[in-house]
Amino acid sequence: MMQANSNAGWTLVTGATGGLGGALVARLLADGRRVIATARRPELLDAHQGSGLLRTLSLDLSDPAAIADARNSVAEIVKGDRLSGLVNMAGIIVEGPLEAVPVSELRRQLDVNVIGPFALAQALLPLLKGSRGTIVNIGAISAHITIPFYGPIAASKAGLAALNDAMRLEFGPYGIKVFLIEPGAMKTGIFSTSRAARDATLAKSPELDQRYRPALAAMDRSFEKSGADDPAVVVNAVMAALAGGKVKPRMVVGKGTRALMLLSHLPDRLRDRLVKNALGLGSALKSTT
Ligand SMILES: NC(=O)c1ccc[n+]([C@@H]2O[C@H](COP(=O)([O-])OP(=O)(O)OC[C@H]3O[C@@H](n4cnc5c(N)ncnc54)[C@H](OP(=O)(O)O)[C@@H]3O)[C@@H](O)[C@H]2O)c1
Repeated sequence: MMQANSNAGWTLVTGATGGLGGALVARLLADGRRVIATARRPELLDAHQGSGLLRTLSLDLSDPAAIADARNSVAEIVKGDRLSGLVNMAGIIVEGPLEAVPVSELRRQLDVNVIGPFALAQALLPLLKGSRGTIVNIGAISAHITIPFYGPIAASKAGLAALNDAMRLEFGPYGIKVFLIEPGAMKTGIFSTSRAARDATLAKSPELDQRYRPALAAMDRSFEKSGADDPAVVVNAVMAALAGGKVKPRMVVGKGTRALMLLSHLPDRLRDRLVKNALGLGSALKSTT
């Protein structure tokens, strides 16, 4: 049984079954921190059991009743101790041509990535006030620069960034620290999941599939070429935020993000041209018209 880092309190991590959430939970446990790991299927978290520092909860962020239940369960778990951190890691990508994206999928995107994390932070606010704790939201570089076929995820991360800034300003007076980590591409399963869902949607509209396929194939190729970073890059940034040192409240992390931030400041039409060329979409997008 691992020695608990007794001063640290409990840290709640959503999306604990995911690539980044799983890596974070493993790091926190290795550091001797107490963790409440949430997931839609918490039975998948068994690999982390055994340290004696872990409690798991079932939580679907798109379900308001589940968030209310989670608040009660968390209060029970941390009784006599404190909830010192909330890491809103869970998230999904809805991708595909806007012409084909079901509006219900856009709603799900915003529900899971924007409304869920905010609702959870609001529900846990009394506990976080009591501990003068830390909230870490996980955004994405797409909050700064939108690329074709990734409109829904970009809208969600831009929305989350705005709420994050408002939380930082409004919760700061309670002694709560609020951070936003905005990663570039990381090596997890998130893109293969979103790509499979995109292709399943398009398979129902063969005409749209045929029209957009060259552009989507060019985009997929350019993503594969540009590669992705190790989840440790995000884990390190979250750990720095939780440690409460002098770190920026908004951290953009991962390779290639510096160039993307520069692009984001360019005039719109110039940026559009450069983005399309960089993604190999110059002629492919024209062929959709
Ligand atoms: N990977 C990247 O390149 C990248 C880049 C920038 C930002 N991010 C952000 O980093 C975070 C983690 O991404 P990841 O790469 O680790 O993705 P991932 O491996 O696909 O994991 C996503 C996690 O979110 C959970 N989730 C999905 N829908 C949920 C719902 N309705 N309620 C509760 N949990 C739900 C998943 O749980 P289930 O097992 O139940 O599906 C899973 O644990 C996300 O917010 C993502 O936007 C990732």
